[in-house]
Amino acid sequence: MTKPRVAVLISGRGSNMMSLIEAASEPGYPVEIAVVISNRPEAHGLARAQAANIPTRIIDHKAYADRASFDAALDAVLADEQVDFVCLAGFMRLLTAEFTRKWYGRMINIHPALLPSFKGLHTHERALEEGVRIHGCTVHFVTPEMDVGPIIMQAAVPVLDGDTPETLGARVLAQEHVIYPAALRLVTEGRAALRDGRVVVDEFELMPPALVVPPAF
Ligand code: GRF
Repeated sequence: MTKPRVAVLISGRGSNMMSLIEAASEPGYPVEIAVVISNRPEAHGLARAQAANIPTRIIDHKAYADRASFDAALDAVLADEQVDFVCLAGFMRLLTAEFTRKWYGRMINIHPALLPSFKGLHTHERALEEGVRIHGCTVHFVTPEMDVGPIIMQAAVPVLDGDTPETLGARVLAQEHVIYPAALRLVTEGRAALRDGRVVVDEFELMPPALVVPPAF
């Protein structure tokens, strides 16, 4: 049986992309990473994808007059590559409402914070400024509004005294690399489904009832 074809969209270093490529290299994983697409020709992730024998495409946003024409070019590449599902992985471009509606339910994103807290950029700096004790990352379906779509999976990490944006970011990133492949698997196996604008997971492990940071006992 042929597996769904996934495009991973990047703009930079591509560590989440690599976590997806590595997961998909396992025979039991439900999708194939068919193509990596970057809007930046200089994105480091392109070389990493090529080293892993994944086809790459560049759609340089500077060559397009507006978002609509860039998104039309992106949509054409996705059609050309016969893509079934899209993963945004550090893709630093806003997509048009029309494009996100067309791909609704078939496009997911990873965000380095526990949404709905800390949407947007500089999430680790802001988490430290606010003094939160728990921070983390979120995989969600993409909707027209940025960082708002239905949440599929989240991982929480403690914020430690003395953390810098770099140390906290590294702790979060390690969990991003765990939950992104896990969330993609859940969705593409049909075990996490959209219902009334939320995600329902049909099966889950029994989890501890709460994560408390710092642990007081
Ligand atoms: C990650 O922190 C991701 O959550 C955010 O952008 C960063 C991309 O890093 N959307 P990488 O390119 O996957 O290494």
